[in-house]
Amino acid sequence: MTLDQTAPATTADDSPRQPAQPFDVERVLASLTLEEKASLLSGLDFWHTQQVERDGETVVPSVMVTDGPHGLRKQAESADHLGIGNSVPATCFPTAAALGSSWDADLLRRVGEALGRETRANDVAVLLGPGVNIKRSPLCGRNFEYFSEDPVVAGELAAALVDGIQSLGVGTSLKHFAANNQEADRMRVSADVDERTLREIYLPAFERVVTKAQPWTVMCSYNKVNGVYASQHDWLLTTVLRDEWGFEGLVVSDWGAVRDRVAAVAAGLDLEMPASGGRTDAEVVAAVRAGELDEGLVDAAARRVLGLVARSLPALEAPGEFDVDAHHTLAREAAAAGTVLLRNEPVDGAPLLPLGAPAEVAVVGELARTPRYQGAGSSQVNPTRLDDALTALRSAAGADVPFAPGYTLAEGPDDDRSPEALVAEAVEVARGAGTVLVFLGLPAAYESEGYDREHLDLPADQVALLRAVAAANPRVVVVLAGGSAISVSEWQDAAPALLTGWLGGQAGGSAVADVLTGAVTPSGKLTETLPLRLEDTPAFGNFPGELGHVRYGEGVLVGYRWYDARKVDVAYPFGHGLSYTTFAYDDAAAEVSGTGADARVRVSVRVTNTGAVAGAEVVQVYVGDPAAQVQRPERELKGFAKVHLDPGASQVVTLDLDARDLSYWHPVLRRWVVEGGEFRVAVGASSRDLRAELVVDVVGEDVTLPLHELSTVGEAMAHPVAGPVVRATIDGAGLDPVMLSMVADMPLAVVVDFGMAGFDRAALGQLIETANA
Ligand code: BGC
Repeated sequence: MTLDQTAPATTADDSPRQPAQPFDVERVLASLTLEEKASLLSGLDFWHTQQVERDGETVVPSVMVTDGPHGLRKQAESADHLGIGNSVPATCFPTAAALGSSWDADLLRRVGEALGRETRANDVAVLLGPGVNIKRSPLCGRNFEYFSEDPVVAGELAAALVDGIQSLGVGTSLKHFAANNQEADRMRVSADVDERTLREIYLPAFERVVTKAQPWTVMCSYNKVNGVYASQHDWLLTTVLRDEWGFEGLVVSDWGAVRDRVAAVAAGLDLEMPASGGRTDAEVVAAVRAGELDEGLVDAAARRVLGLVARSLPALEAPGEFDVDAHHTLAREAAAAGTVLLRNEPVDGAPLLPLGAPAEVAVVGELARTPRYQGAGSSQVNPTRLDDALTALRSAAGADVPFAPGYTLAEGPDDDRSPEALVAEAVEVARGAGTVLVFLGLPAAYESEGYDREHLDLPADQVALLRAVAAANPRVVVVLAGGSAISVSEWQDAAPALLTGWLGGQAGGSAVADVLTGAVTPSGKLTETLPLRLEDTPAFGNFPGELGHVRYGEGVLVGYRWYDARKVDVAYPFGHGLSYTTFAYDDAAAEVSGTGADARVRVSVRVTNTGAVAGAEVVQVYVGDPAAQVQRPERELKGFAKVHLDPGASQVVTLDLDARDLSYWHPVLRRWVVEGGEFRVAVGASSRDLRAELVVDVVGEDVTLPLHELSTVGEAMAHPVAGPVVRATIDGAGLDPVMLSMVADMPLAVVVDFGMAGFDRAALGQLIETANA
């Protein structure tokens, strides 16, 4: 299928009406009535901020915001947030699942610049993305819009994307803040998650983007977090986002996420979208007049809306243009970079890939002709053109590559033949071929915004096709399409070579062909584990929750952290991805400097391309802290770098870890702590292909907890001040090891009351006071 559309014209109608004089936020704010300020706090319509007109003059112009994230979805006529109405043509870049798999921050910055250019050329002020929610379960229907199960890779790549977009003078909306990790009941469900897990897993990607790239806006999620709607969550929107992270922009609601507008203003939500028809503006005014809402809070929110308008105006005055061809080429490069070669086993002594000139191949699978390249919902882009792999392979072969659809897709062409007839035709096409390329994947209805998947499997007809084709010709390469993990364990024995292009955007078809032929050496790596079974996944049993609550029972053990802690086999581990070349890792070193909150570890390793073709390797650094007081994951990604190397070339990769990379969120002290002791620093090509592991000693900070009457004897024995006194008492009691273990777990007050301590409560009180002094 080839679809070609012309470049979007800039429509004059959408240009904001300019204010008569330069836009000075403080001057404008001071001139507004309470009603006018309140009106700014919700939208004009579906996609525009409110304007203020006075005496025929525009006091505050309206600006347009629009989805996002991997392309512009600017609706021309009817507006909706579910991907129903049509939108102007725009480049559909690879979805975050694919972009993330590139692990290439420079590439994401360039894609961001292109997105920014298209946003600007279309008179849009803010592109509503990216989304950095963590892939808690592979079932989440919106995983294709998210980057990873790991916050470091998600945050780092999203920060680069935001940087790129905003460099064009338009804004972004970092979403969905926070703990929106499922679609089921997304508008009401309470994500019940402990603070340490929030701090270590679900918030850091947001934190990284905010602190590194200052997105113009952050979009709060629909769901509740521990019982409070994110849109009125003071701790999230103000304490954490603004006070701790220093967010300077505007907080916008997800579309329709506001339940109590007054509580939301008080919590730090600036802009409710879309329009409320004036209803909630009136509530805000009434609350101020009744003395229930401080007008200063309304001013603060209105100031941020005005600030957004002010920073949008320069670009809106000079929209510029974009080059449709160049952006398509970039989309192709990005999709190829995000394609992950999972497996490439030898058949008859040699791996099937790369194909070289694909003269001898046959192509099977409707997805080769009818590509799935993006997901459904608010992110659905109307592409400027659309490449399919079949056409791309034919053009690379310079010949008519034989093809059979093998199965039908609801979104593909009509085909009245029976499933058996389709398979029989595919088997015939495959039989004589040098190699069979079998395109399989998730049909569109399997994954979407608004609902979750029910299982990880491919449709049964696709698996049956694969089995039949492989029986006729074992030289099978499977090419997967889908926005999230697909289980491969049932059928991958029939696929000596296997790769996934995810949902690769409008040029995904040609990009996959580039990787198959070897025009591009694959360098993508998994940012999410491919599990063997749904039952193995961390959230299994706690997803998607019930009766309005979803319990994050796996805590910090999300993604590979879970599989590693439980020593569970997986189909393909986090960080995995093959190349057509090989890389050697040598001279790994880790050097510690500083202590406590100033501790640093400089990790270096020499990477050499030991194969015959140029390629790129993603070097990953993991940290483990086995001696900590709290259970920490076996290893956690803390840094990565992508290096491009010619055959024989080598490069020393250096990654600097700071104290935060060593620390955990202390649930009692409620702050990040570096606990001293041994740390394991591993350098690897994946989370389960560690090429070097180094043990370093780090001098930590004081994590002594205050003692109280219910501290245990064991805790008191470990205390630097009280410890010697308590140990002497215990030693004096001459307890046997069994008794000692029992007593160690008893609260001090109980031991004293039982007369086992040899001193009374008053003496205990004094000991505690001295210890805590
Ligand atoms: C989605 C957001 C989107 C908004 C506007 C919501 O339903 O969750 O991601 O930006 O609609 O379309």
